Amino acid sequence: MQITVTARNPAEATADLLVVPLAKLATPRPRLPTRAAALDRRLGGPLAAVIASGDFTGKSGEAQLVYPRNPGRARRVLLLGIGEEAKLDAEALRAAAGSAVGQAAARKAARVVFAVPALRKLRPAAVAQALAEGAVLAGYRFDTYLRDETDAPGRVTSFTLCLERGAELRAASAAARTGVILAESQNLARQLSNEPANALPPVALAQAAQRVAKEAGLRVRVLDVAEMKRRKMGGILAVGAGSANPPRLIVLEHGRPAGKARGGRRRDTLCLVGKGITFDSGGISIKPSAGMEEMKHDMSGAAAVLGALRACALLGVPHHVVGVIGAAENMPSGTAYRPGDIVTTMSGKTVEVLNTDAEGRVVLADALHYARTEFEPASMIDLATLTGACVVALGKWASGLFGNDVKLIERVRRAGEATGERVWPLPLWDGHKKHVRSKVATVKNTAGRDAGSSTAAAFLAAFVGDTPWVHLDIAGTAWATQPGPYQPIGATGVGVRLLLDLLRESKPAR
Ligand code: BES
Ligand code: MN
Ligand code: ZN
Repeated sequence: MQITVTARNPAEATADLLVVPLAKLATPRPRLPTRAAALDRRLGGPLAAVIASGDFTGKSGEAQLVYPRNPGRARRVLLLGIGEEAKLDAEALRAAAGSAVGQAAARKAARVVFAVPALRKLRPAAVAQALAEGAVLAGYRFDTYLRDETDAPGRVTSFTLCLERGAELRAASAAARTGVILAESQNLARQLSNEPANALPPVALAQAAQRVAKEAGLRVRVLDVAEMKRRKMGGILAVGAGSANPPRLIVLEHGRPAGKARGGRRRDTLCLVGKGITFDSGGISIKPSAGMEEMKHDMSGAAAVLGALRACALLGVPHHVVGVIGAAENMPSGTAYRPGDIVTTMSGKTVEVLNTDAEGRVVLADALHYARTEFEPASMIDLATLTGACVVALGKWASGLFGNDVKLIERVRRAGEATGERVWPLPLWDGHKKHVRSKVATVKNTAGRDAGSSTAAAFLAAFVGDTPWVHLDIAGTAWATQPGPYQPIGATGVGVRLLLDLLRESKPAR
């Protein structure tokens, strides 16, 4: 989808669909804002007629299609409600652009022109970025395996933002380009997560990483089984042992390391660590069959890390950012790891396996330790579809937020609010850490149902040392079961926008 920013009059741009967003109108006497009124006169007055009818109030999500008497260059016009202006934020704009693209696609309208309103609260750049994100995200569909697309919706090929004259056009264009890169990187994460497990075993995920690295300009390294054995990565090797598809550790790198600060950590290095279980059957502790197909998404943390690294490279983020992905398939077989096994991780710490379905933390134990010792980062953030308990606690409304550093936790929370990728803090206390201690090993991989997300985080905490660290449990947010304005059912690509907001806002060092 081509995104263009211009100061042209929307009535003069050729469009299959001209979108006029309107905030909540005054009652009882609704009036079109000045610019919309001018546009309406050019079109022969259809918008005023709709508003006078009372059928359209500007409520968010409302949409009214009109066929103007003097169509000019636009065949159809869509009035789009965007809610109260005072409440309008970036997320509402993403939704508005997403609805516009959805409405256009349903009518096979390929060229969309969007009359961007001037807003008191948001700069034109912020508006343009959010609209570009919403449009590109809404344009994504997982249709790789569809062959007979006769009743499929159309594709929007261009989305033109017509800014009001005098609005900082240059800044808005640059911001829209940023929005496009962010959304395309998020779409990459969605695509990888949506790919079925037969198409994307660990080796294929590593190949995807190599392709993205080449295209975007990232360094990449893939550790195979032999290399992981040399490095004594007993955790990831145990989880991968049951599958015919061997595990991989994938490392992506953007930028160059800087010097060390106090504590021996590299001042400017952030490690992003992703859970990359390409399919989670549960292993010997096998899952029930209902819903098991969703476990192709169990590598969504890895997909987010890959998408984020791509965006770092294309946006030239001025920091050293390293992605570490633990990729494995969790399967039951004669070679699978078992309940009761004790595995020795790269750190030397041992893990008592009580449930082979608590595999994500076992893989992350090695990935986190590798990241910490190999790159000595100022901080680390891991993303993982880690626990069903997190879905019980927060549903699909937010990702679970844990960590050992209040400042980093607060920065991640803010980035979540700013990007509409909401996160919510859950506790990680000494009690949780005590609870995952094992009688026969350093830690056990499950400590029962109570506070399952917190005890999973406590397990991870045993492998991060004193590195400032945040853990995001994206089990609920990684895929959607209901469509949203810019979100089809399936993978969300959650995490990409949040991580980039964090990296663009400030430094990895605290
Ligand atoms: N990948 C799952 C967690 C999950 C469940 C993600 C539902 C998204 C939706 C994870 O590997 C898992 O199976 N966790 C177990 C842990 C338990 C055995 C301690 C769980 O949450 O039930
Ligand atoms: Mn599992
Ligand atoms: Zn899992």
